[in-house]
Amino acid sequence: MSESSYCGFVSCTFPCHLTATLRSASLNTFKSCFVKQKFVKIRPAKFLSKPFVHHFVMSTTTTKTRFIESDFSVFRISQNAEELAASFGGYFVEIASKAIEKQGSFTLAISGGSVLQYFSKAILETAGRRELVDWEKTFIFLVDERYVPWDDPQSNYGQLRKFLRSSGIEHKVKVFPVNTSLSLEEAASSYEQDILSRQNEQDFIKVLHQPVKYQVEAVPAFDLILLGLGEDGHTASLFPNKELLGETKKLVGYERNSPKPPLERITLTLPTINHAKNVAFIVVGKGKAEIMQRLCEDHSVQYPARLVVPIFTRKEWFVDEDAMSQVAAAQDAPQ
Ligand code: 6PG
Repeated sequence: MSESSYCGFVSCTFPCHLTATLRSASLNTFKSCFVKQKFVKIRPAKFLSKPFVHHFVMSTTTTKTRFIESDFSVFRISQNAEELAASFGGYFVEIASKAIEKQGSFTLAISGGSVLQYFSKAILETAGRRELVDWEKTFIFLVDERYVPWDDPQSNYGQLRKFLRSSGIEHKVKVFPVNTSLSLEEAASSYEQDILSRQNEQDFIKVLHQPVKYQVEAVPAFDLILLGLGEDGHTASLFPNKELLGETKKLVGYERNSPKPPLERITLTLPTINHAKNVAFIVVGKGKAEIMQRLCEDHSVQYPARLVVPIFTRKEWFVDEDAMSQVAAAQDAPQ
């Protein structure tokens, strides 16, 4: 099989035990798997465009969740909430365990909205997964926060605390809230200090590794950043056509006029998000089908989620069939 074959869409079915390998496999590993499995079908690429999905190299099926991979993304398409929880849960536990094994701690940043709910369902409310994470060595930051008091129902920190409390691990895990009693500007810069002081030497990515467009001196490397996706393509509190999208120096920024209420928000910036060791989106439901299609098939960079291009890893997408129902490539992947 020639190198160029891999630039086309590749479709095949692998036994379940191979999927873990395939998830993190390099192109060479794909090649040897294909050869061993007498892989059969190659079709020309006919869909997704640069840079979001440059070209797909393969798709595969497990008994439950389907996978599609590209240069920039890995999509795990689940049929229902239980499958999504299992798929995301396995991924989360693996990253947390590896980080703790390697550096003695796991630093997570989590978004608000439905992401918090899926996180709670997949990890906190499922004893079999919750107990696999060493919460005393886990540090949780918020990807973004609504500028409201902690006891306001809109507060992401308030929601997170509620979920941690009801799963009985609130006393174990260290959560870093945004101090919303400060002015908006001060709250953002104080959160930046919290992030910097939590990171130890080995967690910093030095300036040398940064793309030219970022001008931060040292960037914290979160072990995992969990993102949601708005119907207008926003992620975190990074909204279309906002100045914050061009931030190159600050690790944390603020938004005074968010199109999604509440108006005022604090958020990690793109330099911070793009230096994370792992970045995953959770996107579920028919309501997200149109924006998923646009992100996958439209060339323009008007969608903030498209500007999430992690430097050291691919984006992982935990999605359901409904969210992918308008994406042509997802229809082509084996059922
Ligand atoms: C917040 C967010 C935001 C969210 C998206 C998607 O508002 O707190 O962090 O970026 O992730 O708006 O929200 P849903 O998943 O609830 O639709």
